[in-house]
Amino acid sequence: MRRLLIVGNWKMHLNASQASLLLHRLQENIKIYRDIEVVLAPSMLVLQPLSVQIDRRKFRLAAQNAYFKDEGAFTGEVSFTMLRDLAHYVIVGHSERRHILNEDLPMIRDKVAASFRNGITPILCVGETKQERDDGETKQVLHDQLMTALSNLTAEEVGEMVIAYEPVWAIGTGDIAKPDQAEDAVTYIRNYVKDVFGNKAAKTTRILYGGSVVPDVTFGFLDIPGIDGFLVGGASLNYHSFSEIVLAAHRWQREQEDEA
Ligand code: PGA
Repeated sequence: MRRLLIVGNWKMHLNASQASLLLHRLQENIKIYRDIEVVLAPSMLVLQPLSVQIDRRKFRLAAQNAYFKDEGAFTGEVSFTMLRDLAHYVIVGHSERRHILNEDLPMIRDKVAASFRNGITPILCVGETKQERDDGETKQVLHDQLMTALSNLTAEEVGEMVIAYEPVWAIGTGDIAKPDQAEDAVTYIRNYVKDVFGNKAAKTTRILYGGSVVPDVTFGFLDIPGIDGFLVGGASLNYHSFSEIVLAAHRWQREQEDEA
């Protein structure tokens, strides 16, 4: 049984007490599921307090970003080194960072490398804009993003990492990708990993879908071959909808087991 991965990206929302309350509600509503790994990505500010409050049998923590240098005169930044004992994962190259904070391909490559250097698993986000899709450039964009970000890695590292396919036009818009669009992209990503890093890496790399995920679509989307879970933004800020997504994924897993 393949373990599914569900990541809640809280983005720039929730101060310390709001984040603590949301975690409290999630801990009440989400059980310990052997077949699902649930990860919460709060703001940098609340990683530390949440790490004390969190039930580690149920959740792991992710940072939403970190800087690629380990230490030094980089005012305002937080390094992967500083996150070592705090976060199991770091989201790298989220489209909001690429487009609003102007992170370019080499910077994202350096962040992925810094993540592995510090023993943290990167969740690399890739995906095309609406314009790029309309112009038929989706695969080219995915190719370029993957080629740079993975360029300095070993097959073993690539096999350990998480790649989230997040079409930019689907993030926060309610315009979720159609199942065949998600399947095409996820298949392309896995084949890229297979061609460059081999079969073993392609088998173990976890590939998520992200972009307007809500409870209603969870069950159906897991039927798409090659999807190992979700990166959830808006719906992860509401304990009810996030718990429902996790529960739907658990039901889907049970159904697979029954059929096997
Ligand atoms: P969304 O965000 O679920 O609100 O579309 C997804 C993300 O940014 O990862």
